[in-house]
Order: sequence, then structure tokens, then C-alpha cells
Amino acid sequence: MNEPITSLNKIYSGKVRELYSIDASTMLMVASDRLSTFDIILNQTIPNKGIYLTQIALFWFNYLPIKNHLTHKYKLEDILTADELVYAQGRSMIVKKLQPLPIEAIVRGYLAGTGYKEYLQHGSICGTTLPANLRNAEKLPQAIFTPSTKSAKGLHDENISLTQCRNLIGNDLTNQIQELSLTIYNKACTLAQNNGLIIADTKFEFGLDENNELVLMDEVLTPDSSRYWSATDYVVGSNPNSFDKQFVRDYLEKDLNWNKQPPIPDLPQHIINITSEKYYEIIKRFGIKF
Ligand SMILES: Nc1ncnc2c1ncn2[C@@H]1O[C@H](COP(=O)(O)OP(=O)(O)O)[C@@H](O)[C@H]1O
Ligand SMILES: [Mg+2]
Repeated sequence: MNEPITSLNKIYSGKVRELYSIDASTMLMVASDRLSTFDIILNQTIPNKGIYLTQIALFWFNYLPIKNHLTHKYKLEDILTADELVYAQGRSMIVKKLQPLPIEAIVRGYLAGTGYKEYLQHGSICGTTLPANLRNAEKLPQAIFTPSTKSAKGLHDENISLTQCRNLIGNDLTNQIQELSLTIYNKACTLAQNNGLIIADTKFEFGLDENNELVLMDEVLTPDSSRYWSATDYVVGSNPNSFDKQFVRDYLEKDLNWNKQPPIPDLPQHIINITSEKYYEIIKRFGIKF
């Protein structure tokens, strides 16, 4: 696609989002329809995914009682041309530029994904020992904070212990982030449960503002940063029906037997459509209007 936004200076292009500078302390964050899996970006886009992600994140930023990066300093109409607005509307956030902390604050309430693999090998996740004989998808006695590194572009994030996290960002910030992350995860889970959803795990990103205060940034509780399961057909011991890119991963891994080395195979149209519907299901479940 041609550059959809040229009237602002692009400062970063991530796997999913583009960041543009508005002024020294403010930027525009625009979510594309790209999907990245196993840290590789698909050749095709998922219709409206960027809009769904942004609307879900805005919903949670508004719901969670914690300082976040949104600012109302500008209106989209005032900083973009009419053509740019057509693309950016719905998929954008105007945010404060923060100093990102070099960790990802992962919270797990259930055993899944790499956490489950680590548990099978070591009986623990990121150094947190768990009860024996837990099964796939089982609920943990209580949610645990299992940070990872936030690696530079192209590298994989790695799970780290709490001690390593303390070494990276210090004791105070580690304690604060651990407590905040667990609190907001638990609060989000209650609302999700009321809407027939389980948030098996999630990843938060935090930054520091000009006063060195912790601020929740990036996307929050979207299907890209969280594992959403349907509560109604959830069965311990089997892989629950999920509303995220797990569907794409399963298709690539199980149906195509892809070895996770580039190039990534193309997806057939019906897999693309179903994936878009899965993201939309979260919008519907929470009754998000936009
Ligand atoms: N308020 C903010 N201040 C500074 N950086 C931010 C802020 N919000 C999000 N980011 C960063 O912007 C990028 C968003 O683009 P994304 O496509 O998610 O990138 P990535 O491929 O690095 O995950 C991330 O690197 C995220 O850490
Ligand atoms: Mg990201």
C-alpha cells in the first residue's frame, strides 16, 4: 500500500503499528491490518483488524483505573488531511511519548502457550513454582506475573525471572508493575467473565512520563496482546476455542506443517475472513460501539 499518512513525520514502523510525531511530547499511533505470528508478518492483511484492535484498547484504557498514554491535546481532523483521515479514523490513538520500559509485563491466569511448555519441563514459569499435575488450559491458583524482555526489532522476547527484571528496571518499578499488572488483569477478568470470556493471559507495556511516573501504554487487552477464550465451551485439558491469532498459528503449524522459517505461506481467503470475525467477536462480546 502507498504510505497512507505523509503529513506527519513517521518515527517508527512496528510489526502492527506506525508511530508519527505530532509535537515534541505527542505522537499518533496507527494500527494497520497487519498480522504477525511467530514474529513474522503475514503477506496478507486481515480486514479491519487495526480498527478492532484500537477500539478494544480504547475500551480498556477507559475502563481501567490507571494512568494511560492517551491525550486529548489534538483532534485527528486537525492534524491529518481528509484523505489520510479515511484511513486513520478508528484505528488511531493520540498518545503521550513515553520512555518505554524494556520489559513486557505478562500476567498469566491459566496455563497456555509457552507458559504451559515451560511448566511441563520445569514445573514452574519464569521461576514461579506451580502446583504439580496441572493440565493444559487449567486455571492457576492465582494469577502470576511473568515478565519478558522487550527485545529490539527482529529478535524474540525472552521470559525472564523476577530477579532479572529487578536487575533491568530496579526493585521499585518491578514491584509497582507487578502489583499494577495483577490488579488490572484481575479487574479485566471479572468483566470478561461477565461477557462469557476468559482472559487466559495478557501482556502490558509501561513507560515513564516526564515526572517519572508509570503509565500504561501501547495496546491493552487486545486479542493481539492477550489470549481470549470462550468461557462457555472451556474444558480443562484441551485447547480452548480462542478469539485471536491462535487460529492462524494452528492453520500454519498443524494444517500446513509450516516450519516457522520465512517465507511465511499465504493464507486462503476463508482463513483470513474467519480471523477477522474472531477479532470482531471481542468487540461484540463487550458491546463496544464505534
Ligand atoms: N506512549 C508510547 N510511548 C512510546 N512508545 C510507545 C508508546 N505506546 C506504544 N509504544 C511503542 O510503539 C510500538 C507500537 O508498534 P508495534 O507494531 O506494536 O511494535 P512492535 O513490533 O515493536 O511490537 C511498540 O514498540 C511500543 O512499545
Ligand atoms: Mg507490539
